[in-house]
Amino acid sequence: MRFSASLRSLARHALPALTLLALALPASGALWLEGPQSTFETAGPVAKGQLQIFYVTLWVTTFLFVGTGAALAIATWKFRAKRDATTNAEPPPQGHGNPFVELGLTVGSIICLVFIAVPTLKGIKFGYDVPNGDTPGKLAALVEKGDAYRVTATGYQWWFQFDYPTEKIQGGGTLVTANELVIPAGKPVHVDIRTRDVIHSFWVPKLAGKVDMIPNRANHLWLQADEPGYYFGQCAEYCGDSHSVMKFRVIALAPAEFAKWLADQKKPARAAAPMAPAPATPAVGTMAILDMMGRDAMAPLSGTGDAREAFKAWQTRQQAVPEDNAKLALISDGRRLFKEKTCVNCHTVRGHEGAGVNAPDLTHIGSRSTIAAGLLENTEARLKDWLINPDHWKPSNKMFHGVGGSGEIVMAGYIKADDNKHPMMDASGQPVRNIALTSADVTALTAYLQSLK
Ligand code: CUA
Repeated sequence: MRFSASLRSLARHALPALTLLALALPASGALWLEGPQSTFETAGPVAKGQLQIFYVTLWVTTFLFVGTGAALAIATWKFRAKRDATTNAEPPPQGHGNPFVELGLTVGSIICLVFIAVPTLKGIKFGYDVPNGDTPGKLAALVEKGDAYRVTATGYQWWFQFDYPTEKIQGGGTLVTANELVIPAGKPVHVDIRTRDVIHSFWVPKLAGKVDMIPNRANHLWLQADEPGYYFGQCAEYCGDSHSVMKFRVIALAPAEFAKWLADQKKPARAAAPMAPAPATPAVGTMAILDMMGRDAMAPLSGTGDAREAFKAWQTRQQAVPEDNAKLALISDGRRLFKEKTCVNCHTVRGHEGAGVNAPDLTHIGSRSTIAAGLLENTEARLKDWLINPDHWKPSNKMFHGVGGSGEIVMAGYIKADDNKHPMMDASGQPVRNIALTSADVTALTAYLQSLK
């Protein structure tokens, strides 16, 4: 008796509580629909089109939910057993097979599906490639006619390379950058999607839906940032140990600023100071690798900040600041170490020593706002953290572990690995080192990299 009373009291309170909740959810939208990677705050026509499809689906399914739920609720309430006699009575005549109901529900379902299918198919066509003005409807008006700007995004373990196939650089070849894709604002950009050795998914939530990077498959997408700004990108496909830290940025610039950026990037690396001569007695690195296996001490990362602040900071970074003499000495020593510690085997610094193509092009790394594939802010402290122990930040990264085991082509990383690609340990339980950096080395390398504007 008491049980059914409390059940009734629960039912009495449940309805107002649910109503309040339903009203509160849209009001609290500010808390959960916004953010640097929100698909509800779109910044370009592709993302806008995709959001429209989401809303069409949401409204049709909400209509179905409310209609079905209401029918069920009314039937449950109206035909409930009021007395013991009704509980034990024969069931009333059943409506199964009623042609009006059966046909009505079938036609109704088809109408609902058509309501969803038509905009979805239109949206798929629109999002597939730059419409060049030949798409009818409201969205076409958002896109400038004419050729799209073309870039290529290539996935690596675990970072993104961006190629500008139409931008010729001095001495042959075309412009290559990494992890920060700079595009012209207000103009459609066709992105060819490639990958080297991994499956990623390329996703800039505010600009366009995700497209997978699959080996041996030429995918593409297009996007347009309506306004200049700083947009956050993210890998959206599980790709291994560093999946959760596979980020990148898209920076959209007004035409004049974009042209200036291109001109700066096409130049070879800035030589703030010449390379220091090798010392007579090379220093032996003794620095310990910090908590190599521990992932628990993750410090605050980049990517949670305000996009407007990040954009301003990025713009400030494009200017090289004059260095004092102490800094110049560090820079020239760093340039020597960059060669000596074999960084040059994997990284390119155009105009300087490096010519490797297996790792991000660092020619203008000083002008990027992030390092480690968008994971860390490109500050002096963070660059040092990264150089000291890259594996702490990006598990399984090749700078730390190298490429291949014995019997394969080996690109040496910080540590030596056994045939199973596990770190080799010495008698004292420390990993056996290929590349050892002292704290002074890290400071000099950081100064050099930061000078590359
Ligand atoms: Cu790349 Cu997940």
